[in-house]
Amino acid sequence: MDKTKKNLKVIIGSDHAGFEAKAALAAHLAGQGWKVTDSGTYSSASCDYPAEAHKLCVRIQSGEFALGILLCGTGVGISIAANKHAGIRAALCSDPVTAELARQHNDSNVLCMGARILPEEKLFEIADRFLSTDALDEERHRRRQRMLTDLENSSFAVPGPSGAAEGK
Ligand code: RB5
Repeated sequence: MDKTKKNLKVIIGSDHAGFEAKAALAAHLAGQGWKVTDSGTYSSASCDYPAEAHKLCVRIQSGEFALGILLCGTGVGISIAANKHAGIRAALCSDPVTAELARQHNDSNVLCMGARILPEEKLFEIADRFLSTDALDEERHRRRQRMLTDLENSSFAVPGPSGAAEGK
């Protein structure tokens, strides 16, 4: 892992289904030198994943954090909720390759995982890959990310087949 990346702060959140896995993952990341902030939930009492996603996403929207990690039972609900927030590109990942490509191609800023789906070691492996990978500064990826912003702003214009011409 790039040592300089350990200066980055990361924020981590979950609903009740991800509460125990969140604690384990936060400890794992802190042990590697990451500065980890826990946005909740803070107990295993039942709570609502949209609220937990919102608590974390607003702190990325504000610029306080560049990257976040969200856990719920499957990762599905909390990723849907996260992606309702402007500027949030949440990626639901169940393997490290997808996590790496979510950073490289999509500049994903929130990793979502299913705490009831994946074993703890896999959660660690996926999070490590996500946090240690940079977005590729390549125009085709940046163009597509701008298009995502256009979709948020209802300013999306159906483009010509520029991506198809590149074959990627
Ligand atoms: C909670 O029971 C569960 O529904 C939630 O954690 C998540 O899996 C929803 O997508």
